[in-house]
Amino acid sequence: MNVDTSDQNVSKVFDQLARCRRSIRGFWPTPVEPELLAQVFETAAFAPSNCNTQPWYSYVVSGEMRDKLSRIFLKTIGQGHYSLDFPYDAKYEGIYRQRQLDVGLMLYKALGVTREDSEGKRQAFLRNLEFFDAPHVVFIFMPEWCGIREACDVGMYAQNLMLTMRAHGIASCPQTILGYDADSVRRELGIDAEMKLLFGISFGYEDQDLPENQIVPDRASLDEHVKFYS
Ligand SMILES: Cc1cc2nc3c(=O)[nH]c(=O)nc-3n(C[C@H](O)[C@H](O)[C@H](O)COP(=O)(O)O)c2cc1C
Repeated sequence: MNVDTSDQNVSKVFDQLARCRRSIRGFWPTPVEPELLAQVFETAAFAPSNCNTQPWYSYVVSGEMRDKLSRIFLKTIGQGHYSLDFPYDAKYEGIYRQRQLDVGLMLYKALGVTREDSEGKRQAFLRNLEFFDAPHVVFIFMPEWCGIREACDVGMYAQNLMLTMRAHGIASCPQTILGYDADSVRRELGIDAEMKLLFGISFGYEDQDLPENQIVPDRASLDEHVKFYS
């Protein structure tokens, strides 16, 4: 299969897709049709991977199991009881800390949560564990033997997945926090102990009216992250 990139529309549409994918934090309950679900996951797997190892494993959860996991997460992650497969001990400093603060402020402002409003912040955090009302959530795993290179493969797969979803009108939010109770996810879904959870992605159809879905986080300028040599 090939694609005609001399067709300006193809390049333009892809550029727009990549630029307009955003993390969406409020969804309609309408489920995605099963055929479309299968199709987007099939397309995502065309991602490149080291030696074509394809080390990604997706566990897609909907319906009662989705509700059950949300209830469990509220009791575990929501109460500070974690089981992480990969520690999250990064301390953001300098420009990275600034970007983290900027996006957090942007989100809280949209939600009407002030700096002093710790309960408002907590409620905003807990929305993660309700999957922002999305009807589906996918848990992204890789086998235990995998290292940082394979984690990069999985990242490429996840971005393929979110862009493919976007192309089909499906919105998504990647969530590290959904990897904070890996033991419960493995237990409830009957997943082998050798499979390790990286993160989850809530997805479905965007509630476009919500203020939290209007935010557009900044990007650094080109010269801050690319150097061209000749
Ligand atoms: C691996 C990964 C984990 C993330 N975890 C969370 C999360 O737990 N909760 C959340 O609300 N957003 C999460 N995000 C979304 C980021 O905040 C978001 O990608 C960033 O602010 C840029 O915004 P954009 O995705 O709308 O372009 C995560 C993003 C990635 C790539």
